[in-house]
Amino acid sequence: MPTALIVLAAGQGSRMRSDRPKVLHAVAHAPLLAHALAAGAALEPERTVIVAGHGGDAVEAAARHMGENLVVVRQDSQDGTAHAVAQARSALAGFEGDAIVLYGDTPFIRPETLAAMQSARRDGADVVVLGFEAAEPGRYGRLVANGDRLERIVEAKDATEAELAIGLCNSGVVAADAGLLFDLIDQVGNDNAAGEYYLTDIVGLARAARLSARVVTCDEAETMGVNTRADLAAAEAAFQARARAEAMENGATLTAPETVQFAHDTHLGRDVVVEPHVVFGPGVTVESGATIRAFSHLEGCHVSDGCIIGPYARLRPGAELDRAVRVGNFVEVKAAQVHEGAKINHLSYVGDAEVGPRANIGAGTITCNYDGVFKHRTEIGAEAFIGSNTALVAPVRVGVGAMTGSGSVVTTDVPDGDLALGRAKQVNKDGLGARLMAKLRAAKTKKKGG
Ligand code: UD1
Ligand code: CA
Repeated sequence: MPTALIVLAAGQGSRMRSDRPKVLHAVAHAPLLAHALAAGAALEPERTVIVAGHGGDAVEAAARHMGENLVVVRQDSQDGTAHAVAQARSALAGFEGDAIVLYGDTPFIRPETLAAMQSARRDGADVVVLGFEAAEPGRYGRLVANGDRLERIVEAKDATEAELAIGLCNSGVVAADAGLLFDLIDQVGNDNAAGEYYLTDIVGLARAARLSARVVTCDEAETMGVNTRADLAAAEAAFQARARAEAMENGATLTAPETVQFAHDTHLGRDVVVEPHVVFGPGVTVESGATIRAFSHLEGCHVSDGCIIGPYARLRPGAELDRAVRVGNFVEVKAAQVHEGAKINHLSYVGDAEVGPRANIGAGTITCNYDGVFKHRTEIGAEAFIGSNTALVAPVRVGVGAMTGSGSVVTTDVPDGDLALGRAKQVNKDGLGARLMAKLRAAKTKKKGG
């Protein structure tokens, strides 16, 4: 059965107090909307319709990077969830199959939960609603149900005392045949406390038409929605807790898991060790057996097996580290291929570069990659030895097995096997050190006396 996703994302999110539409606020470096789409992606939707409103242009621009077969439609006035779903009708013209409604501000619905809703549909339920037992039902819609047979949904604003006592609440996620969904929505009115077109009314309408409605339940944690900055922080915490648990389940050692921050797409292999206070930005893969030592920051990089990174290392986008590379404290690597067994152990910047296998980059080495306008590349050959405090002024190449003397400013290529000395020649002045010191001490004594 083909599936279409309808993702509601038109609300203002005024309680965020933000100039940015709520669904574009990020958890683990991905917008809430991307999390909602990722959950829905498990259903392999044939089409996805995002209903945008507030900040619609920004939502549309961001959504372009979030997948294929994806359309953004506009809801010009936010007249309720049924009205929002109705905006998806023309985008789904000709579509035959199930429609599943998700909220763009609800990032954690699990694929298994959506699959359970699909299977309730296959078992013959005409409308399937995702519910949960709320710790504090508050302003959630209440599910009036008999076991898993749903009769209607009543919004808190419109509920009686007896209905408010119901703990089974509406998550907002709904599945139904697309044609039926739009037929039911056509019948929804706005004669209620909010004066809005409630999507929740389709359940009562379906039952009145002698159709069946089922509730599938999930854990409350899955339905966590984001309305405030505090909710956003809580969602981040929930994501991080889950990511840490998953990393450990998959065979990584986290010595202080609560201090490690993951991104939505961090990938750690087996037997990776992550020490305390490591931050993963987006786009990081760490392969088996690598160690990321304390206080390192990684983003957009690939770390191969057996590497040791940090403590206090920074790997920026395009850092590609081959097997058994070492990157030590206060080293920054950006857009650089570092080949097997190379070492950059202390206080260096290596950017727009290629570092050959087993090359040794001395403390304080800088690739001077930027001339103020353009970026230039540095190439360092296999087994080259870069002396401490070398400035490699790119574009420049240091050959295979070549060396640079410490303190050199290397501005021209160094042939294979050569030693480059690019620094002032040292001169020693006979006895001058001692004489100078004596003079200074005498000056100090005179000053104190006078
Ligand atoms: C809705 C449900 C309620 C449920 C709760 C779960 C209705 C009538 N009520 O209430 O039963 O318990 O969600 O969180 O459906 N949106 C639009 N356009 C609109 C209105 C809303 O796109 O015109 C979007 C919002 O951006 C949001 C979602 O739909 O992502 C839910 O809207 P919201 O106003 O938060 O609904 P609630 O009142 O919380
Ligand atoms: Ca809400």
